[in-house]
Amino acid sequence: MNQPLLNDRYIKAALQQPTDRTPVWMMRQAGRYLPEYRELRAEAGSFMDLCTNPELACEVTLQPLRRYPLDAAILFSDILTIPDAMGLGLYFTPGEGPAFKNPVRNAKEIAALPIPDPNQELKYVTDAVSTIRHELKGEVPLIGFSGSPWTLATYMVEGGTTKNFSQVKGLMYEQPQVLHQLLDKLADSIITYLNAQVEAGAQALMIFDTWGGVLIPRDYQEFSLRYMSKIVQGLVREKDGQQIPVTLFTKGGGKWLDLMAATGCDCLGVDWTTNLSEARQIVDGKVALQGNMDPSILYGSDERIRQEVETILASYGHGSGHVFNLGHGIHQTVDPEKAGVFVNAVHELSKKYHIQ
Ligand code: CP3
Repeated sequence: MNQPLLNDRYIKAALQQPTDRTPVWMMRQAGRYLPEYRELRAEAGSFMDLCTNPELACEVTLQPLRRYPLDAAILFSDILTIPDAMGLGLYFTPGEGPAFKNPVRNAKEIAALPIPDPNQELKYVTDAVSTIRHELKGEVPLIGFSGSPWTLATYMVEGGTTKNFSQVKGLMYEQPQVLHQLLDKLADSIITYLNAQVEAGAQALMIFDTWGGVLIPRDYQEFSLRYMSKIVQGLVREKDGQQIPVTLFTKGGGKWLDLMAATGCDCLGVDWTTNLSEARQIVDGKVALQGNMDPSILYGSDERIRQEVETILASYGHGSGHVFNLGHGIHQTVDPEKAGVFVNAVHELSKKYHIQ
């Protein structure tokens, strides 16, 4: 039996309900900037060895929560688990990031891709979710996640990280229907995967569209947003009487917030290139907002960090509907002490923006 949620600020804020202060968590809060992560990873072997072992994935998820008073935990895993489970053969090379042994580039290869079964090939993920839920003891909610279809497709077609998206954009411009086939299959896989995470105990969901911002507006709607919208429509949004908030995050998507809000999600992630005050005006109460401090502020002095937190809180303004976060993942060379300064500053400085 899972314990009742003791700190529900994150859930409430993502659903635009009142809280006593602004909740805070950090994208990539578990990871290489933490010495205890690096130590465990060295013992385990590789990053995927951590992800595929539920006890180790749980331990890594909890590491940042032991250091900082965060308002949410995020499952330790990766967005590339789905393509790996489809048979693409995920591997990581130091300094070069993720890559696939078997990229997919044509209609035949795409048609042959299976929709992974979350209770078979991806059971290590749902097992990690239930282990983490149990170990969290209701302290804070657990966020489950996936990549967006477009973002996963970029890695699957390119075979790894890319600078100019030549393969995937080549496919998009020359054979759009083939790319649509892939995106549709990914959307179906993601719906099944995220619903399985909820079934296993995830209390909120987030979709990372890291590469939506490289598309021209028309293509963003056709090749990225359309499939995120399909996912939002297919997700289970309530479990045991609790709503499951869904957050969409398109990096560089500040100019499309109105369209994103229309998908029916609960919250939008915003990077640091958009002012939260403008974002709030645009979404006009339809959704909550998450963000949006430049992660590089954490290279600044303690005072500079506090000042930036204050500026962002003031930019959002009074009332509910703000989840404080960085505008993208924390950098691996950040001093862990600075992350503590950031989290504490949000705790301390946000109280005055909420009715006590
Ligand atoms: O936020 C969290 O704490 C949860 C864990 C998480 C990871 N990856 C752990 C990870 C999440 C939510 C992700 C999502 C992810 N993975 C995204 C979308 C979010 C974003 O940052 O835009 C993307 C694009 C990926 C793909 C990926 N996986 C990349 C680009 C890398 C870095 C590769 C490198 O060598 O720099 C990874 C590996 C990865 N995922 C690490 C972690 C902690 C580092 C692994 C290691 O070397 O220990």
